[in-house]
Amino acid sequence: MTGRRLVAVPRRDWNLTEQAVNLSGRSAIDWREFFPHHPLRSVSLLVLNGPNLNLLGVREPDTYGTTTLADIESDLDEQLPEVTFRFEQENSEGALIDHLHAAHEDGVDGVVFNPGGYTHTSVALRDAVAAIDPPVVEVHLSNVHAREDFRRTSRIAPACVGQMSGFGAAGYRLATRFLFDA
Ligand code: DQA
Repeated sequence: MTGRRLVAVPRRDWNLTEQAVNLSGRSAIDWREFFPHHPLRSVSLLVLNGPNLNLLGVREPDTYGTTTLADIESDLDEQLPEVTFRFEQENSEGALIDHLHAAHEDGVDGVVFNPGGYTHTSVALRDAVAAIDPPVVEVHLSNVHAREDFRRTSRIAPACVGQMSGFGAAGYRLATRFLFDA
């Protein structure tokens, strides 16, 4: 962790280089910045889920399906083995904000974020998304625009690169693919 902090602007991690920097103990001329399409580039993504999404599979299956969060996460690992995933789920707003800050500090390349019910209420989460460098894609399993009126507004989406809504678990795949290709 300390070695990692020596690397300037580690938005794109190349593991081999990182190891070399860590071993040598030298601070970096970050040549990765000059070769962003190097084949050894590894991509790290945070998949962050908000309140009640730990109950996927049993929670309102008519709306959210029977796929569990663990299923979604292992599917992403299988679909994109090139990606180093960080999977987090929290029920509280502050803990979600802490994960967004950590993603920024650790140079994660992108964030797939389902803020659950906080989508429609949380100024603090929107501010956190606006404050960090990694691009964030908002994901919803259900089509929030086809449900109750209060779900049609997202406080967070305007700070994101885009929103995926109504594609069920496939929305997570599409969002990660987008961030991987970006
Ligand atoms: C949700 C939609 C939200 O309105 C709701 O509060 C959720 C799940 C979705 O994935 O469809 O908790 O984010």
